[in-house]
Amino acid sequence: MENQSYYFTAIKGEFLVERVPTGIEGLDKLVQGGIPKGASVLLSGSAGTGKTILALQYLYNGAVKYNEAGVYITFEGSPKTIAWDMESFGWDFKKLQDKSLLKIYRLNLTATSPALAEQQIEAELRIISRMVKELNAKRLVVDSTTAFAARLGGEAAVRNILYNFCDSLKQLECTSLLTTETGSGRTDFSAFGVEEFVSDGIIAMYFTPPNRSIHVRKMRGTSHSKKVHPFEITEKGITIKDKDEVLWEALSK
Ligand SMILES: Nc1ncnc2c1ncn2[C@@H]1O[C@H](COP(=O)(O)OP(=O)(O)OP(=O)(O)O)[C@@H](O)[C@H]1O
Ligand SMILES: [Mg+2]
Repeated sequence: MENQSYYFTAIKGEFLVERVPTGIEGLDKLVQGGIPKGASVLLSGSAGTGKTILALQYLYNGAVKYNEAGVYITFEGSPKTIAWDMESFGWDFKKLQDKSLLKIYRLNLTATSPALAEQQIEAELRIISRMVKELNAKRLVVDSTTAFAARLGGEAAVRNILYNFCDSLKQLECTSLLTTETGSGRTDFSAFGVEEFVSDGIIAMYFTPPNRSIHVRKMRGTSHSKKVHPFEITEKGITIKDKDEVLWEALSK
């Protein structure tokens, strides 16, 4: 009996869960082929760990390899600068935008109080939902949730708004990456301490000069690698060495 249920779990893990491949081969291998469809996954890491590059590579691959449209929501860079930065990897974001396979949306929060910011965010979420529907987008990135959450009035509001947000993305059948800025410690996964509980998964990125590494900390609905794996950022973007391992102890505490 025990064996049978184990077998069923294995089958479920491999075949029954619908997956969205990131198109980053090494990363897909760590999560049995892709992120479970509809999941909201936190991409956590300190400054310069490669969160934005990975998130944009996910959208680029979605459009080019899988013909799936994506929406990138940013709080900082201008859409032009982002497209220009990505040219260094040979990713033609301008062309994807022209073909309606990608939309870069800059969220401008001008509210001066947390209460007004919450209202403004809810209004923006409605705009984003509309955009996702119009584009029939299947992939979404919010870069970064920290910039977004910093405008809210504390933990409860962050948890509440993020929860509602992830829920509406699920209803739209989007599979989302939400970047989060953290300290450089190996168990820092979010800025507010609540984001990790709201999300379905956590992919943690580390930079311990000169080495970069990545770790799937949690992924609901699938089995995944429990190891820390080295990765590189080259002129082709992010390449993950799924067969190699970095020791947990080698990361900063
Ligand atoms: N063309 C490239 N080739 C190799 N490495 C690059 C290239 N472009 C950027 N990088 C590396 O990637 C780093 C930036 O990555 P990215 O912007 O994705 O980080 P981030 O985690 O989003 O940082 P932040 O928290 O500041 O937004 C740079 O500091 C640089 O080390
Ligand atoms: Mg970034």
